[in-house]
Amino acid sequence: MNRPRPLRDSLWDVYAPFYDLFTSAIPDRVRQAYVDALRLSPGDRLLIAGIGTGQDVPLLSETAMAGSVVVGVDLSPAMLARAARRLRSSPRLRGGLALMDAHDLGFRDVSFDRVLLPLIVAVAAEPRVILREGARVCRTGGLVVIFDKFRPAGSPPSLPRRILNVFSRTVATDITLDPSEVAAGLPLRLQSDEPAFLGRQFRIIVYEKIFNRS
Ligand SMILES: C[S@@+](CC[C@H](N)C(=O)[O-])C[C@H]1O[C@@H](n2cnc3c(N)ncnc32)[C@H](O)[C@@H]1O
Repeated sequence: MNRPRPLRDSLWDVYAPFYDLFTSAIPDRVRQAYVDALRLSPGDRLLIAGIGTGQDVPLLSETAMAGSVVVGVDLSPAMLARAARRLRSSPRLRGGLALMDAHDLGFRDVSFDRVLLPLIVAVAAEPRVILREGARVCRTGGLVVIFDKFRPAGSPPSLPRRILNVFSRTVATDITLDPSEVAAGLPLRLQSDEPAFLGRQFRIIVYEKIFNRS
């Protein structure tokens, strides 16, 4: 699929060597909270879209359920190389990685029991397509869990936020998204939407996949 690529898509390879340092402000308890929200069961197949350097891998390893399989995808080879190291250091976890655009996942419908979208929805060129693809590959009754930054609910983005967003979007992430707009019309039922970090700036949102459209 020929989708225009924003500049920031090509920056992840540049950021990769410093990424863990940039994001060290996000406490492990926050990441653990969204890993817990996945409610993994033994044998579950989990997709992590935008796995980055794989910071969730050690936490998943702690949570690892017998026979679970973790598949991580990312469009940055440099990020994936770091995730691969983390996966190798977590022998309890069965998993694999693939270089892939999460706008167009190369998996069949309903291939996964759980889909995790950690800090990818707001950085992607088309957030709604990322969530739609996550929903497509999740089985009915499975969970799609988002961890990301969103604007406060119930109001349009403020002027300062829109101004800051011009810079923020260019180099990394949109900060004006409303998740209810991103998810509107998708086969997802909202289960929970909880503040996770920096007040309600970062939220953990859990959706249940409610039916398969295909
Ligand atoms: C902000 S980082 C998040 C990394 C990791 N999930 C975390 O929580 O630290 C965004 C990641 O999403 C990846 N990414 C951005 N757009 C993507 C896309 N369309 N398909 C796959 N990965 C994408 C980037 O390469 C980067 O590794």
